[in-house]
Amino acid sequence: MKLMQLYASMKSDLQAIEDQMAQTVTSDLPILSETSLHLLKAGGKRIRPVFVLLAGKFGTYSTETLKRVAVPLELIHMATLVHDDVIDDAQTRRGQLTVKSKWDNRIAMFTGDYIYAKALTVITELDKPRIHQILSGAIVQMCIGEMEQIRDFFNVEQSVRNYLRRIRRKTALLIAISCQLGAMAADAPPKVCHALYRFGYNVGMAFQITDDLLDLCGTEKAIGKPPGSDLRQGNITLPVLFALQEENMREKLLAEIELIKNADGPITSVAAVKIVRSSAGIKVAEEIADRYIAKALKALEAIPDIPARRNLADIARFVAKRSY
Ligand code: IPE
Ligand code: IPE
Ligand code: MG
Ligand code: MG
Repeated sequence: MKLMQLYASMKSDLQAIEDQMAQTVTSDLPILSETSLHLLKAGGKRIRPVFVLLAGKFGTYSTETLKRVAVPLELIHMATLVHDDVIDDAQTRRGQLTVKSKWDNRIAMFTGDYIYAKALTVITELDKPRIHQILSGAIVQMCIGEMEQIRDFFNVEQSVRNYLRRIRRKTALLIAISCQLGAMAADAPPKVCHALYRFGYNVGMAFQITDDLLDLCGTEKAIGKPPGSDLRQGNITLPVLFALQEENMREKLLAEIELIKNADGPITSVAAVKIVRSSAGIKVAEEIADRYIAKALKALEAIPDIPARRNLADIARFVAKRSY
């Protein structure tokens, strides 16, 4: 099934999630509603709620129950983006100004905190402590991942393993638990919940590698922010790490990264991006993303062959090829 068709087939549940998210972040204090709704209304792929809903099909499907998992997960994702844009000093997201740039860093910090807290109030409506534990564990890991990102800015000596560990924490785990918690909330068998976790984890790894590739190879229109942002911010991603291993690229690329690092004012990363694009790093990173997708598809073999399984496989294949 094409992805658009899949979203269309889930339209009413996704709309219910959308409404609940808007209602959840609406506050008596206008500024909090404005900042939260600004990002919410800018759209986004809503991939985490889609995973929750599909995973729920492996148990007793209830929109009401699944909403209480999908809404917090998407809100937590959004809260992290608000904070991430502060860390990355990003001006645009989803084609709109970031909260930090439309308002300021202080407002963005508390908008993020506020959205987090609101997410937690929704999840606690579910009387399943194990779900709360898994969720808080994942949030802890995301914080560590984001801290590692700050620590590793401009670190050109970091290993591939280091990169993979960081993206596991900052991105893959939340996608993994979207699948796992959707199934758990629907009381699916533990074996199925675990297989869905493995699926989500591997899709999540590929998802972030593709995000990093898009930052180098995508267009501003498609990705909703200027390409080259990662390098401009000092975020050394997988294709860059591989480009740095190429003898005829290394010196040129190091010099460009050094220029960016030492710039006093606004700086472009166009030259550095060009070098990485012309290196084999792009292809190698694509191959690694493909390998994660293959693992994700393999994980699905352990779960019942219902239509939702095919939908999950379609999304996994989309992630590897996505252009936004
Ligand atoms: C962006 O996530 C940040 C990453 C984890 C790569 P998404 O690509 O899911 O962002 P939206 O929600 O669609 O904007
Ligand atoms: C993903 O990292 C952010 C989180 C998982 C919080 P990025 O920094 O690559 O995300 P974008 O590119 O800003 O969306
Ligand atoms: Mg970012
Ligand atoms: Mg990115």
